[in-house]
Amino acid sequence: MNITIRQENKTDYKKIYELNLLAFEEKEEAVLVELLRENDKFIPQLSLVALLNNKVVGHILFTEIKIIDTNENEFKSLALAPMAVLPRYQKKRIGGKLIIKGLDIATKLNFKSVIVLGHEHYYPRFGFVPTTKWNIKAPYEVPVNAFMGIELVKNGLKNVNGIVKYPKEFDTV
Ligand SMILES: CC(C)(COP(=O)(O)OP(=O)(O)OC[C@H]1O[C@@H](n2cnc3c(N)ncnc32)[C@H](O)[C@@H]1OP(=O)(O)O)[C@@H](O)C(=O)NCCC(=O)NCCS
Repeated sequence: MNITIRQENKTDYKKIYELNLLAFEEKEEAVLVELLRENDKFIPQLSLVALLNNKVVGHILFTEIKIIDTNENEFKSLALAPMAVLPRYQKKRIGGKLIIKGLDIATKLNFKSVIVLGHEHYYPRFGFVPTTKWNIKAPYEVPVNAFMGIELVKNGLKNVNGIVKYPKEFDTV
C-alpha cells in the first residue's frame, strides 16, 4: 500500500472533518480540529494527512501546549490529538506512519517532547511512556497509563514536571 504523508491544505479541510466524524462516531474531534486551526498555537506543519491514491484516509494534529509546575514555570510541549484513520483503512499501519512522520517533523521544529492521552498499548510502540516518569499530570482525571509522553531529544523532559495546560478548545472534547 502506497501511503503518502503531507501537510494538510485548505482543500483537505472538508475531508478531514468527515474522516474524524467517521472514525470517532461523534463530531467533537472533527470540530476540535476546525477550532484549533484558528488558535495561535496551531502549527500548520504538524497537521498532516495520509493519502492513499490521492484520497485522504488519515489525519493527525499536534498542537502546542504548556506544562506548568508548582512554581509557575512553563515548559513548552506538544499534544498529539486528535488522530483518525477512516474505519475501513484502519489497522494497516497508516496511523503509525502519521505518528512517526509527525514526531520527525516536531523534532525538526525543535520541539523537545510530545504528550498524548491514548491507548496504553498502542503509543508505547512509538516510544511513549506514562508521564508518571516525569511527574507530569493531566489537568483532569485520566487512567494513569493512558497519559503518556515522549522525549524527542535526549533529556527533552528532564527537570520538566507539572500539569499540562491545553488550549481552551480542548475543553469541548
Ligand atoms: C487510533 C487510530 C488512528 C489508529 O490508526 P490505524 O491506522 O488503525 O493504526 P495502526 O494500523 O498503525 O495500528 C493499529 C494497531 O493499534 C491498535 N489500536 C489503536 N488504537 C487503539 C485503541 N484505541 N484501542 C485498542 N487498540 C488500538 C490496534 O488494535 C492495532 O493493533 P495491532 O497492530 O496489534 O493489530 C484508528 O484506529 C482510529 O482512527 N481510531 C478511531 C479514532 C481514535 O480513537 N483516535 C485515537 C485517539 S486521538
